[in-house]
Amino acid sequence: MPNNVIVLGTQWGDEGKGKVADLLTSKANIVVRSQGGNNAGHTLVVGDKKVVVRLVPSGILHPECLCLIGSGVVVNPEALFEEIAELNKAGVPNVEQRIKICGASALLLPVHKSIDRGAEKKRGKNAIGTTGRGIGPCYEDKVARRGLRVGDLYEMDRFREKLKDLLEYRNFMLKNFYDEPEVSFDSVMAMIEPLRERLLAMVTDVAAVIDEGRKQGKKILFEGAQGTFLDIDYGTYPYVTSSNTVAGGCVTGSGAGPLAIDYILGIAKVYTTRVGGGPFPTELNDAVGEGIRARGKEFGAVTGRPRRTGWYDAVAMRRAVMINSLSGLALMKMDVLDGMDEVKICIGYKRPDGVVLELPPLAACEYEGLEPVYESMPGWKESTYGVTEYGKLPQNARNFLKRLEDLSGVKVAILSTGPERDQTIYLDDPFADR
Ligand code: GDP
Ligand code: IMO
Ligand code: MG
Repeated sequence: MPNNVIVLGTQWGDEGKGKVADLLTSKANIVVRSQGGNNAGHTLVVGDKKVVVRLVPSGILHPECLCLIGSGVVVNPEALFEEIAELNKAGVPNVEQRIKICGASALLLPVHKSIDRGAEKKRGKNAIGTTGRGIGPCYEDKVARRGLRVGDLYEMDRFREKLKDLLEYRNFMLKNFYDEPEVSFDSVMAMIEPLRERLLAMVTDVAAVIDEGRKQGKKILFEGAQGTFLDIDYGTYPYVTSSNTVAGGCVTGSGAGPLAIDYILGIAKVYTTRVGGGPFPTELNDAVGEGIRARGKEFGAVTGRPRRTGWYDAVAMRRAVMINSLSGLALMKMDVLDGMDEVKICIGYKRPDGVVLELPPLAACEYEGLEPVYESMPGWKESTYGVTEYGKLPQNARNFLKRLEDLSGVKVAILSTGPERDQTIYLDDPFADR
């Protein structure tokens, strides 16, 4: 039985993971976040209600769904409880009781935000354009083995010792390298102590819950955050986030074994967006790109920043198919391309010496001088907004989708024609027997 499905972004984030995870959760019992933190912003639209989840898995709107936060996630306790309060206010039942956190998850503390801000300032014109949430510095501390974990809250004497050591190092950097205000030990303790018991009440052995769920035949959805080209290893380094956003990250960051996964659904828009700095070969700095931004409401769900926009990139998608073992694709925002005279797909990156690359390079500096090679197709004037049957799409839209599939090397399983749950065309079911 195909019970365990990963959904993840195949571009630079904001592909529509929230909508797809929410849709598939009508079939899933458990939703798991495995990496990233509250840099994510996943939008869920149900009727006239719009909810943006950041740390909480997108399954939360389904009242029976268990939501797990795995070891690979960086947990900002203040942000978590703020989000829980928002969900409570929106009338979502039993939010706190349905969220379980792995004790090995890294604790993201205010000092990480200060370092993030200082590091971005220091980078000057080469700033990454981070979300400013402290994500990178928190992962740095984790990998350097000086970080604090959620499970450290069990033993407060040891917690205080570790916090002192961490702050000694980080405050030295804030003061002497980043020229930023230091963060006091007392302020961190004053923040964490009132939240400690509530946080510990959520701690569970997430890997064991996943394993038990599998044995009981439960359906489990692994919800990626960010996107493939923001991956720390395979993204446009250094303009990336600090975790493995690819399918492997869903496994290491949750404790599910690699062979536990049955289907991997990649999410992509029918065009491309990116927030923050870094290479973006198909970027459109013209009226066409402006039109896509306006129609697609392409403004960050977390930071409100305008998203950069461009054509669909089949070169990047070929890499995403390869490194994520994609089983199928969920293509989002079809309606945003309605009414255009022509639509384009990038099929290669041309180097200054004329050589055309069919796969994207692995570092930002290698993108310099690359020009996108496009295939152009006629657009469609009819509206696809809210269409729920493939056969009802305009012929030119179907031609575009067919070409996009052929060039990307993966079949479309889900097509989204609007932000709401029912504005969706299902071509394949990731949870179906096959
Ligand atoms: P995520 O981070 O991958 O979950 O994506 P975001 O929530 O940051 O951004 C996706 C945006 O697109 C959200 O505002 C969604 O409500 C919206 N959206 C998703 N699918 C569609 C669609 O098919 N059409 C339109 N017009 N909007 C969509
Ligand atoms: P979701 O899950 C889009 C980008 C930032 C920046 C880079 C590093 O909603 O798709 P960070 O704060 O992680 O150190 O920033 O990564 N970024 C995202 N872009 N969607 C996201 O999340 C993102 N999370 C981080 O803009 O370029
Ligand atoms: Mg987002």
